[in-house]
Amino acid sequence: MDGDAHAGEGKPLADGFLRFLLPAPKPRPAAPSAPARLVPPHRLIAPPLPTPRLRPEERLLIVPPTRPDWLPLPSPRSPPSAPSPGTAAKPRPFPPRSEPWTRDAGRFVGNGNCATGRSSAAFLANGRRTGFQRPKAAAPQKEKKAWVAVEKKDEDAGDKVRAVVSEGYSSRDEGGVDVEEQLELESEPERGGHRRLLDREDNVKNSLAMAGNQECPDKGGGERPSEHLMSQSNQAPRFQSRMRRWQVECRHDIDNFTPGLLALYESLKPSEEHKSKQKQLVDSLAKSVSKEWPNAQLHLYGSCANSFGTSHSDVDVCLEMEIGTASTAEVLLTLAEILRNDNFENVEAITSARVPIARMSDPGSGFSCDICINNFFAVANTKLLKDYAQIDQRLLQLAFLVKHWAKLRGVNETYRGTLSSYAYVLMCINFLQLREPKILPCLQAMEPTYTLNVDGTKCTYFDEVHQLHDFGAENKESIAQLLWAFFRYWAFHHDYRNDVISVRLGKTISKQEKNWTTRIGNDRHLMCIEDPFETGHDLGRVVDRQTIRILREEFKRAAAVLQYDDDPCVTLFEPYDYEL
Ligand code: GTP
Ligand code: MG
Repeated sequence: MDGDAHAGEGKPLADGFLRFLLPAPKPRPAAPSAPARLVPPHRLIAPPLPTPRLRPEERLLIVPPTRPDWLPLPSPRSPPSAPSPGTAAKPRPFPPRSEPWTRDAGRFVGNGNCATGRSSAAFLANGRRTGFQRPKAAAPQKEKKAWVAVEKKDEDAGDKVRAVVSEGYSSRDEGGVDVEEQLELESEPERGGHRRLLDREDNVKNSLAMAGNQECPDKGGGERPSEHLMSQSNQAPRFQSRMRRWQVECRHDIDNFTPGLLALYESLKPSEEHKSKQKQLVDSLAKSVSKEWPNAQLHLYGSCANSFGTSHSDVDVCLEMEIGTASTAEVLLTLAEILRNDNFENVEAITSARVPIARMSDPGSGFSCDICINNFFAVANTKLLKDYAQIDQRLLQLAFLVKHWAKLRGVNETYRGTLSSYAYVLMCINFLQLREPKILPCLQAMEPTYTLNVDGTKCTYFDEVHQLHDFGAENKESIAQLLWAFFRYWAFHHDYRNDVISVRLGKTISKQEKNWTTRIGNDRHLMCIEDPFETGHDLGRVVDRQTIRILREEFKRAAAVLQYDDDPCVTLFEPYDYEL
């Protein structure tokens, strides 16, 4: 196509008097004898979509996702194992062993082809499993592997860590191209990477039944009725067709994977030794702080206090103190000095973040610790999450597995445009609030028994959760079914364009209904996750047009792995290949 366009442009010049100045046109290679590809008519007549123009202050950063430091280094790759004769009857592995797995992550920096949304950045996620080796990508693709961290400048800088990289590229599509539409368009007629793999699976005459417009009658539970989704989204056939595509029933043997998933969940829980090391760290921190601020109180927040902490979680501490006329930044700088003097390592004050923090690591345990000042919203949401966790154990199981998956797949890095652990937990809570029958209630919609006043905002909810232990008993879904349904929802059913997920209300609401600020500055939020107490705070604000693709590809991969792979407990958590 490109070649033809240029040839057309050059013709008048070639026919004119300047022709002799030009090198003789090279003979065109003979047309391939293969049958011409049919191109849908709109592709021939549609003008090219405009390339977003970058403002001078915008900056693209190419950063690979970071390998978690607890992830052991990969062992040398072994050659692919030959399929054993008995494998034919087994469910097909996912992705097919003959194809490299690509993460269709959208436009590669410098490639002006973002208009069509075709990915030129191949993401190979061939994790290492003994005896299960996906073929390596061809060498040139290696250069193209890029994570485009899209960081917004100043406003809504969001996550504490994002201050480290403080400016970047606005996710707004300046050419007026609707990003979501672009995603849909590209995923339908020209399915690349993952889409293609899913189609292949669709075409396989396996045991899956396409349920047409009917919702999947999940065992014991189910999705919300499709009318609900449709009425909220008011979507055109595109959305309907996407929904139809994955009206598949859960594989009949899904429950075989529940024991494996539960064993993994158990292994992720922090050990007693881990907890006591955490306690030691908090004690020595308290000692250091009390030298300068004897009346300061320490509150643990985040996953070390909300029960969602894994053995890889950091320690989050909120200092409650009178800071008088000093600014939070000044206090944090003083604190950083004290911590350095007390031999804590890697101490830094990150003062320009939405929530300014001091960060350090403990030389004894190696734990990383974030300290913020008077951040009571975090204290309140920590208690809320902890209370939700006590209602039904499937929340903890689901959230641990999702967090673990997100860390291993490199989609748990807010400063690179993917989601925080906190956001994933909110997604899990909201998902369980929406199951039919419900697994979790909406605590903020019930008679309040707990109130914390934070800067004039009342954080209230029903916290007598011991009364709710049987709440989800009617729903018999296993963790394997729920994990599958979770990824399926985020891969195929969530209406990214219109919906905001709200734990506060226990449902999804439309952006219009919420009067959600869909544009902040020049930005447009592509995935909206409402904070339960700071309702103007969108945990999805960090997601941009590149990382939304990455996230959705990962959700699709996860759903497909759980649906088709013969060893999903392993394949699902194969680390994103950091080495390629
Ligand atoms: P781990 O990955 O296990 O450490 O999970 P975590 O829940 O501790 O996540 P993280 O350390 O990123 O965040 C700590 C806490 O900060 C969260 O649990 C929330 O209580 C609070 N928080 C509030 N808003 C945000 C936000 O926008 N981003 C993040 N990351 N945390 C927020
Ligand atoms: Mg944490």
